Amino acid sequence: MSRIAYVNGAYLPHAQATVHVEDRGLQFSDGVYEVIAVVGGRPVDLAGHMARLRRSLRELRIALPMPPRSLGVVLREVTRRNKVRDGIVYVQVNRGVWGRDHPFPPETVAPSVVVTARSGLGPGPAVVEAGVRVVTVPDQRWARRDIKSVSLLPNVMAKQAAREAGAYEAWQVDGDGLVTEGTSTNAWIVTPNGTLVTRPLGPDILAGITRETLLALARAEGIPIDERPFTVAEAKAAREAFVSSTTSLALAVVAIDEAPVANGAPGSIATRLRTLYLDHLRGAGAGDWLAA
Ligand code: PDD
Repeated sequence: MSRIAYVNGAYLPHAQATVHVEDRGLQFSDGVYEVIAVVGGRPVDLAGHMARLRRSLRELRIALPMPPRSLGVVLREVTRRNKVRDGIVYVQVNRGVWGRDHPFPPETVAPSVVVTARSGLGPGPAVVEAGVRVVTVPDQRWARRDIKSVSLLPNVMAKQAAREAGAYEAWQVDGDGLVTEGTSTNAWIVTPNGTLVTRPLGPDILAGITRETLLALARAEGIPIDERPFTVAEAKAAREAFVSSTTSLALAVVAIDEAPVANGAPGSIATRLRTLYLDHLRGAGAGDWLAA
C-alpha cells in the first residue's frame, strides 16, 4: 500500500508528496510540528496537542492557515487513508513558500501544512521489559525550547551520539549541570524517598503532553511530586528514572552513562505509571478528531 501524505491541500502518494524548493521549512526550519498518538484509529490527547501547536505558532507569528476543526479533518483523513489503527500522525506548519530571504514573507503568503501518518506506537515489549540506557550531553539548543520548532539539529546530533554509544536517548544538561530533557522525551527520576521529580515548565523544556498526563495520573495515585530541576549526579543516585513522550510513552531508564540506576531494572513507579498511561491511551485519552 502506498503511503499517503497531505501537502498544502492535496492528499498524495509519498512519491509525489513534495514541497517547493523555496519552502521556508526546508530553507530556514521556519516552522513547528506536533506528533500525536493514534490508538484504535482515534487521536490521543488531541486538545493538548492542538493547544500546543497553536501556542508554538503564535510565539513565532505564523498563522494556522485553516480552522482547527478543519485541521482535525485532515489529520483524521491522513490517518484513515494510511489505515493507521495504532500509530502516529505528524503535522508540520511552516511559514510557507517565498524567495529565500530571512525576514517574514508578505502576509498574503499562506503557511505550508504537511501531514503524514504511520503505524506503530511505542517500543516493543523486549525494550520495555529491559528498560533503556541514556547518555548525558551538553544542551546546545536555543533558549526557547518550549516552542516545538522543526529546527532540531542539536537534538539530531545528541540522539545520534546516544545511538553511537548504544543508548536509547541522550539527556541534555544545562550550564548548571541540571538535566533539561531528552532529545525527544521529557526526563524523570524517583528520589530514594519515593518522590517523582521532573523539571518544571518554562523556556528550558518542551511542555510534553505525555508529561502532563503522567503528572495527572501520578497525582491521582497519591505519588508525591516535585517539579524541580535535578543534577546528573542526583539522577545516577536515584531510585528510578524514566523518559516520557508520545512515541516512547513512559519508558524506564536503567542506566545513565555507565552507571546503573538502582539495581539496573525498571522501577516500580515507572512501571505503574506506564500501565496507567496504557489504560489512558486505550480509554479516556483517545478522543474525537473534531474535538479540538
Ligand atoms: N518529541 N521533549 C522534546 C524535546 C520532544 O521533542 C518531545 C516530543 C517531548 C515529549 O513531548 P510529548 O509528550 O508531547 O510527545 C519532550 C516528539 C515525539 C518527536 O519529536 O518525535
